[in-house]
Amino acid sequence: MKTKVGIIGAGPAGLMLSHLLHLEGIDSIVLESRSREEIEGTIRAGVLEQGTVDLINAAGLGERMMKEGKIHHGIELQYNGQRHRVNMHELTEGKEIMVYPQHEVIKDLVSARLDAGGEIFFNVEGVTLHGISTESPQILFSDFDGEAHELHCDFIAGCDGFHGPSRKMIPELFRQEKQKIYPFGWLGILAETPIANPELIYANHDRGFALLSTRTPELQRHYIQVDPKDDISNWSDDRIWTELKTRVDTNDGWELPDGPIVQKNIVSMRSFVCEPMQYGRLFIAGDAAHIVPPTGAKGLNLAMTDIQVLKQGISRFYRFGEKELLNKYSEIALRRVWKAQRFSYWMTTMLHTDHNKTSFERSIQLSELDYVTSSRAALKSLAENYVGLPLEWEGSSLLV
Ligand code: FAD
Ligand code: PHB
Repeated sequence: MKTKVGIIGAGPAGLMLSHLLHLEGIDSIVLESRSREEIEGTIRAGVLEQGTVDLINAAGLGERMMKEGKIHHGIELQYNGQRHRVNMHELTEGKEIMVYPQHEVIKDLVSARLDAGGEIFFNVEGVTLHGISTESPQILFSDFDGEAHELHCDFIAGCDGFHGPSRKMIPELFRQEKQKIYPFGWLGILAETPIANPELIYANHDRGFALLSTRTPELQRHYIQVDPKDDISNWSDDRIWTELKTRVDTNDGWELPDGPIVQKNIVSMRSFVCEPMQYGRLFIAGDAAHIVPPTGAKGLNLAMTDIQVLKQGISRFYRFGEKELLNKYSEIALRRVWKAQRFSYWMTTMLHTDHNKTSFERSIQLSELDYVTSSRAALKSLAENYVGLPLEWEGSSLLV
């Protein structure tokens, strides 16, 4: 079997890369270890940066998103029981974000690929990468029926998430992994309740962080900070609602609507970067190369910017035989990745409660929240990072 770009992983990175390459007339094959139902049903991200929304629209995939997604012009930060609005639209000269769930983006991408005759192998097993430092790398895998295949390609895109095999193929001698593990976990719920608030609320509280988000008018997504080693079986629905209500309470009669919890789970939090993001003909993108704690809502968005750089590099290679942008892929992508890492780290440490901190450090944290919510310069900085920073190379934008 032969293609130009062999893509491992049908997450947002792999599927969008395959779609964008198709728009440029470049073939690819996507290999995914899970089933279509599983990838279309996994609840993850909710917030799309302005640039991600622009990309989805420019790629012709925005119809459902523009109907069912919800544009937000601001967020609220809460501490000491008081809410402070960050008017991102005004602070960024008109930019905004969209709340549209990741699994809906996945559904739109899978159907666009399949409708265009794109090849996605679901339920593959035993994916291994070979010859990545040659000009004709191969991917070996078994398909759903157990039949073994050899996929020959010009490039491999490792879009296989944090636990996939691609990153580990960059020899240790050439790979540096930098990370920070946080003593925080997020317990996330999907609940059948009306919308709690028109905008997302990020709340700092002595008992821990809480985030109120949304999915649809009838289904809400909320999170509370918990011990990352805690077990979800310790959290009855009643306990979750009591904790959430305590942390987002404002003492002014506002009440968080509760209702049946239809899904709950705990995720741990880390910051992680692999440098470089390329070795020979292997390019890694998205969570395969970097992880951010979700407080900045950046993970999916970073995956989308990585693949915009990669797509343009691959496209210039086939159109003009030019390798310069491909050779700079890692450098260009990492510059933006590190800025998103900084922002996600900052939001996480500013908003979570670490009981190992001293009372001095807790007062500094509250003072930082006070500064951020009262200084226009600080608010502008938060807003421009939250809606998404530009991606530039040689003075021109690499984003759509
Ligand atoms: P993934 O989505 O992980 O996709 C990788 C794919 O590769 C998977 O489908 C996997 O099955 C497949 N794979 C793995 N191994 C193999 C193999 N051996 N062979 C074949 N296939 C393989 N981001 C945001 O931007 N905004 C948010 O609001 C946000 N909120 C989040 C909230 C939570 C609770 C969590 C956990 C994450 C959140 N994120 C958010 C992060 C976002 O979900 C991820 O960054 C995003 O999924 C990364 O996309 P990806 O395509 O790189 O990787
Ligand atoms: C979500 O809706 O899942 C969500 C929103 C904001 C975040 C993280 C996750 O920062």
